Amino acid sequence: MEKKKFYLTTPIYYPSGNWHLGHSYTTVIADCLARYKRMQNFEVFFLTGTDEHGQKIEEKAKAADKTPQEFVDGLVVKLKDLWKLMNISYDKFIRTTDEYHVKAVQKIFKTLYDKGDIYKSEYEGWYCTPCESFWTKSQLKDGKCPDCGREVKLTKEESYFFRLSKYQDRILKLYEDNPEFLQPVSRVNEMKNNFLLPGLQDIAVSRTTFKWGVPVTFDDKHIVYVWIDALSNYITALGYASEDDSDFKKFWPADVHLMAKEIVRFHSIIWPALLMALDLPLPKKIYGHGWLLFNGDKMSKSKGNVADPFVLCNRYGVDAIRYYLLKEIPFGQDAVYSDESLLKVINSDLCNDLGNLVSRTVAMINQYFNGEIPDLTKLLPEDEGLVQKVKELYAKVSVYMDALQISQALNEIMKTVQRANKYIDETAPWVLAKDSAKTDRLKTVLYNLAETIRVTALLLKPFVPSTPDKIYKILGLKKAPQTFDEIKNNLFTGSIKGAKVDASAPKLFPRLDIGKELKELSAKEEINENLEKIDKIDKNNKENKNMNTEEKEITDGTITIDDFFKTRLVTAKILTAEKVEKADKLLKFTLDTGDGVRTVVSGIAKYYTCEELIGKVVVLVKNLKPVKLRGILSEGMLLCASDENDRVRLVTPDGDVTVGCEVR
Ligand code: ME8
Repeated sequence: MEKKKFYLTTPIYYPSGNWHLGHSYTTVIADCLARYKRMQNFEVFFLTGTDEHGQKIEEKAKAADKTPQEFVDGLVVKLKDLWKLMNISYDKFIRTTDEYHVKAVQKIFKTLYDKGDIYKSEYEGWYCTPCESFWTKSQLKDGKCPDCGREVKLTKEESYFFRLSKYQDRILKLYEDNPEFLQPVSRVNEMKNNFLLPGLQDIAVSRTTFKWGVPVTFDDKHIVYVWIDALSNYITALGYASEDDSDFKKFWPADVHLMAKEIVRFHSIIWPALLMALDLPLPKKIYGHGWLLFNGDKMSKSKGNVADPFVLCNRYGVDAIRYYLLKEIPFGQDAVYSDESLLKVINSDLCNDLGNLVSRTVAMINQYFNGEIPDLTKLLPEDEGLVQKVKELYAKVSVYMDALQISQALNEIMKTVQRANKYIDETAPWVLAKDSAKTDRLKTVLYNLAETIRVTALLLKPFVPSTPDKIYKILGLKKAPQTFDEIKNNLFTGSIKGAKVDASAPKLFPRLDIGKELKELSAKEEINENLEKIDKIDKNNKENKNMNTEEKEITDGTITIDDFFKTRLVTAKILTAEKVEKADKLLKFTLDTGDGVRTVVSGIAKYYTCEELIGKVVVLVKNLKPVKLRGILSEGMLLCASDENDRVRLVTPDGDVTVGCEVR
């Protein structure tokens, strides 16, 4: 019988080099789903990759004295290393610089142009010649360039546009007809209210001001602007618009595109419109999960390290990190990562619940039956609680997985593990062992436990791929099977009796000393901060040497505009606000800075309640050197006005502006 197909994707990541636990989060979820479907006998195509074009890359490569291609090549190796470390079983890794992708994007662009869905027009804006930048009217500062303060000219730049507006009604209808298309449902309202109902505008899809992109074949001044290039990866990876499109025929449309919420708009509006324009079927589901919020700046080396997947996986094992991400973050919502919560979960769930169940059971089988799993004799009513739970487990987990409720699925498995631990306490095998008339009962109890471990371990395989094989080995069974077939039926029938357990195997998850670990993790953090300081000192020394010949400035308290511009002020939105323990004055904030999330501690607890602050857009000093306040790394400062009457008010923009925009 032909296998059912399942095609799922992660976003293709920018080659930033600072991949953090947030990127791992999407990829681990996708990997878990891919493994789950494979174990259900689906033929799976799991795609991930890198999004390598654009002006930023061009600039960063230049700064690093490399060609853009050399620059991205190095970073992609690092990302692939991370996925290898994290046991990510992707079927294909696409790079937007791959030749087949470039050619297919060119064909897609031409097809849309020939159909009239892409047309040439002009992009109008205020142009600053020295800065080579376009600005909208509202971005100008006193009618001048917000970067350099010089005159700007109303200028038009030639650009190709995609007729997005044409697809507005079809997209609204798509949402109405397919409530499953965009999930979680809260994202549907967001898209409707913020973008679709106010009216879609056509979007510029080419650029002439930089070169690092896919060239437009019929107009060599232009390169394809990022979103057509990036989104098309989901079909070009399958061979669409190439000589061999057999995978495209086999796997398209995608079953799930996974991503975090900030790029849902592109996937649930622009992507379906592009596919409609190409007369292609639409993906079945777009899932926009929440953000993993960090104690530190997720993109900064100095703080990012505590949430650096390389560090965490190497220290605690990949399965522990995968487990934490999959179980502790309710899929769909934002969640705060902390080292402490990670360590606690490893100890409570993996070491206590799972590890102890296995080691206690195996030790008893070893002690009472010479290490051989006994046969079960007769199930009693008091076994029903556990036995029924184990028998129903696969079906329950499947329902959750099909609904993409990953953390609930894992929780269900772990509840069964906990139930088995309780069963040990209820049946007290050590008491049964003292009475030879109860040997049959003891056999049944230990068999039931071994069977529970066999079933739960196999169900855990998509989540923590290495641990189940270890558990099977400890139980004296062959490697954990590749499918769920063996645990769907015929449970508790004696199929594993006689297997020789290994009571001498090392602990699956050794208990962590949380206090010690926290100290060591923060010591690592400080080492990195110090390394960064040394880097900076080195750099300054070099710069000072170069400045030797320059005249020393005489200062009178005034500063130059260049001095002022050294302070980077940006708008930021308060996502969370909480009191800092044992510090009356301090509040700890998580801020959305447009390009990421960071933590700031501010001494304004006397002047505001946490509730009134959430959602406020404030002004952040972004390039302030981070400091630790009450053990919390504060990365920046919020601007406040204060008067002599001890009134303190946050500075906020006068009206709506986007988060992360410069304040000057
Ligand atoms: O947006 N929490 O690439 P990107 C959870 N190239 N997930 C997070 C996260 C966090 N803190 N930070 C990042 C791009 N992610 C484009 C995509 S797709 C055609 C083009 C994950 O490198 C999440 O999946 O900025 C998010 O959508 C993605 O990384 C953004 O990665």
